[in-house]
Amino acid sequence: PTEGTISTIISSYYDDQCEFSRENLSIGHLIGKGAFGFVYQGIAKNIKAEEKVTTVAVKTVRDDATSEEIENLLKELSVMKMVGKHINIISLLGCCTQGGQVMLIVEYAKYGNLRDYLRRKRPPGHVLSGSFEQDENDESYKPDDSDDLIHSLSTIDLILFCLHTAAGMEYLHSKKCIHRDLAARNVLLAENRVCKIADFGLARDLTQTYYYRKQTDGRVPVKWMSPEALFDRKFSTKSDVWSYAILAWEIMTYGGTPYPSTSAEKLFDYLKVGNRMAQPSNCPNEIFQLIESCWAFKETLRPTFTQISENLRRYLYGSS
Ligand code: ADE
Repeated sequence: PTEGTISTIISSYYDDQCEFSRENLSIGHLIGKGAFGFVYQGIAKNIKAEEKVTTVAVKTVRDDATSEEIENLLKELSVMKMVGKHINIISLLGCCTQGGQVMLIVEYAKYGNLRDYLRRKRPPGHVLSGSFEQDENDESYKPDDSDDLIHSLSTIDLILFCLHTAAGMEYLHSKKCIHRDLAARNVLLAENRVCKIADFGLARDLTQTYYYRKQTDGRVPVKWMSPEALFDRKFSTKSDVWSYAILAWEIMTYGGTPYPSTSAEKLFDYLKVGNRMAQPSNCPNEIFQLIESCWAFKETLRPTFTQISENLRRYLYGSS
């Protein structure tokens, strides 16, 4: 593609309502890295009506990004605009598309990704449910949680995280958006320990090796995929519910690694004959029954996120 096409693409995404002036944004240190680009912490002036300066996260593409990668970031921008605001979703604050590198300005989550947070807040001596553990992810960006007075999370805290993420997913589905990659690594934790679903606007290239490739810490993304997504590339609200079961299992195990001794190749047969992960020692029966309904082989048997969040609210706050 020529220079002409990419500037045409960028122009086609221009939106005066959303464009933020580059002079009012200062970029800080790197807080995340993906296959496509980088996430930095930043400070934005007058991006919110209620405060003069706001700490934000800034998503960009690499300097040598292809026009396709730039367009993927712009597609993510339009999905985020379409989805709008919810407490349990990372929201868009603005963007810089004109006169320089394309940047998305999103809400900053001070405690970083949920998976690493859960691991940091494991109670001392917590026994992992029958799994060997991989080494710590050396590429993780340690957020500053020195002001976080909680040393370890209780089971109720974990169930509350399950509710936050289910409520975020209920909202996302109500906006006709399917996530396709729901996992604790894609959930962020913000002020007051509120979970926020992130990376829901990413265009997923299903031919890419991402799903089969091991992450730096040994986790394989296929382990969050439902059988029909894995084999027929059939992604739906129901495949998100399956991924949610794996996410809820990660939460209840304080960031455990799913199926540590099953290879990606053997996973389908393993699931097909009815194998699933075991009930974590601290997980109440009612919560595990809910998780089990979410990883039903038959899609139609899985609950909706409305039913999941109702169920969790009833467990936490009693029937109303
Ligand atoms: N890492 C990636 N995105 C982030 C965000 N919005 N806030 C904090 N850390 C992040």
